[in-house]
Amino acid sequence: MSEPDLEEVLQVEFLSYAFPWSRGIFQDCLKSGYDCRVMCVEQEIVGHAIISAAAGEAHLLNVCVRRDLQGRGYGRLFVRQVVQRAKLLGAEQLFLEVRPSNKIALKLYDSLGFIPIGVRKDYYPSDIGREDAQVLALPLAEEE
Ligand SMILES: CC(C)(COP(=O)(O)OP(=O)(O)OC[C@H]1O[C@@H](n2cnc3c(N)ncnc32)[C@H](O)[C@@H]1OP(=O)(O)O)[C@@H](O)C(=O)NCCC(=O)NCCS
Repeated sequence: MSEPDLEEVLQVEFLSYAFPWSRGIFQDCLKSGYDCRVMCVEQEIVGHAIISAAAGEAHLLNVCVRRDLQGRGYGRLFVRQVVQRAKLLGAEQLFLEVRPSNKIALKLYDSLGFIPIGVRKDYYPSDIGREDAQVLALPLAEEE
């Protein structure tokens, strides 16, 4: 992902999340040197993923597939690629936060071997106030 991609990335983000990231957050991620990836199908951006990695840990800060293309296997493929990137970046564990109400994402992460390791109280905004975050971890050393 680079700055010129942001228009398309934001379209995907706003179509796919009830509480999307702003342009400024994506710009900060690019400036910070995070591993910012886009997934393209026939030159079109259909998803994005942001990984921060340091000191043997990687954090998947955002992963998103365009709403009209969800449920076709892109998310699974993308998260598998994120796992490979995290390893290349020298991480021994990959962490992420997910809403407990996001059953699709939870099922995907569970099937890929992520383990629940904790809860961050009132982490996300929600329609009824705040929602906790489930924290998941994937030990990368055990991955093939
Ligand atoms: C979560 C997300 C990235 C998954 O991507 P996707 O392309 O829809 O997922 P896939 O088609 O690869 O499916 C992966 C798994 O998710 C689960 N899944 C997908 N669609 C599902 C549905 N409609 N109902 C139940 N489970 C579903 C299944 O476990 C599926 O694996 P399987 O097909 O082998 O059973 C995508 O739905 C998304 O971008 N959502 C909005 C943003 C978001 O919530 N990101 C995650 C934040 S932590």
